[in-house]
Amino acid sequence: MAIVSSGSPAGPARPAAPVAKPGLLDPSSAPDDATTSEDTAPLQREDSLRPRRLADYIGQRELKQVLGIAVEAACSRAEALDHVLLYGPPGLGKTTMALVLAEELGVRCRITSAPALERPRDIVGLLVNLQPRELLFIDEIHRLTRVAEEILYPAMEDFRLDLTVGKGTTARTRSLPLSPFTLVGATTRAGSLSSPLRDRFGLIQRLEFYGLDDLQAIVQRAAALLQIDIDAAAALEVARRCRGTPRIANRLLRRVRDVAAVGGHGRVGAELVQQALSLHRVDGRGLDASDRRLLHLLQHGYGGGPVGLDTLAAGLGEDPATLEAVVEPFLLQQGLLQRTPRGRVITAAGIAHLEAHPEPQAA
Ligand code: ADE
Repeated sequence: MAIVSSGSPAGPARPAAPVAKPGLLDPSSAPDDATTSEDTAPLQREDSLRPRRLADYIGQRELKQVLGIAVEAACSRAEALDHVLLYGPPGLGKTTMALVLAEELGVRCRITSAPALERPRDIVGLLVNLQPRELLFIDEIHRLTRVAEEILYPAMEDFRLDLTVGKGTTARTRSLPLSPFTLVGATTRAGSLSSPLRDRFGLIQRLEFYGLDDLQAIVQRAAALLQIDIDAAAALEVARRCRGTPRIANRLLRRVRDVAAVGGHGRVGAELVQQALSLHRVDGRGLDASDRRLLHLLQHGYGGGPVGLDTLAAGLGEDPATLEAVVEPFLLQQGLLQRTPRGRVITAAGIAHLEAHPEPQAA
């Protein structure tokens, strides 16, 4: 079944895409400030480089295959796609995948994040405005309040809203039917999700760091969209330095483009990439100054460890949750750092990397 490569599941139920541009916020119908309070500027900047269909989405083979089957099946049954939980480090394409799913289903995607859903009416407003089979994307879903979670349970399970009307002895529960919809939740911390919420997702998928070949292809695709003339070796050099993360690859590519433009370079080669990214203190393996500071503190401040996350975070002036969810995963994946029951430990490869990059440690 050529589900993924077709990228366009056929089926009798597939509706025409709505006039509203799929995947973008529709501020005219946003309830209160639930979807508008977040900063959407980075989203818009990334938007021009995002793949729109499954067939254009490079990498994450297994994820594409699983979701491709689920989309095709949902379309053929004319049903909403089952709820999807996407987890993994930031920048790997969770939001992009939600937008791709909406495009494949031919429906609109409403985007919000858990911190914007502080008041019960924020989530209620979003839910009641959903049209049949639409996607609701909630980023950082592990940060939902308990009240918001409890509103979501019957909404996810039975497409029903249970509202309490009145107070004290006159309080009554009213049920309101909702359109069948798909919740796509994204988190960097799947372990922080409550199990009742996690159990209500029919599809739970992890996004992996990308391999070099896929990253090189992503850089070449982005370069074409940005009209940057880049050779294959240069694209590979960006791929090597982007921590397995497309969002970083695209960011680095823009920095390379700046250096190329200012230096009056034509075609971008590997040497120019090295020069441009050294300027931004991104080393040949993709580690940046904050990664090296972490390894340096671990090795020279704590004799290589073990040291607890909170101690390490305090020494770096970082928030422990950010350190754990954003900085550490790539260092762990690269085998430069280990998590042990007694704390973080630098590995032999981590020590070798520090020795190869003996730059002064910036504050
Ligand atoms: N840009 C960012 N992520 C991408 C991906 N997975 N495939 C293609 N282009 C991308």
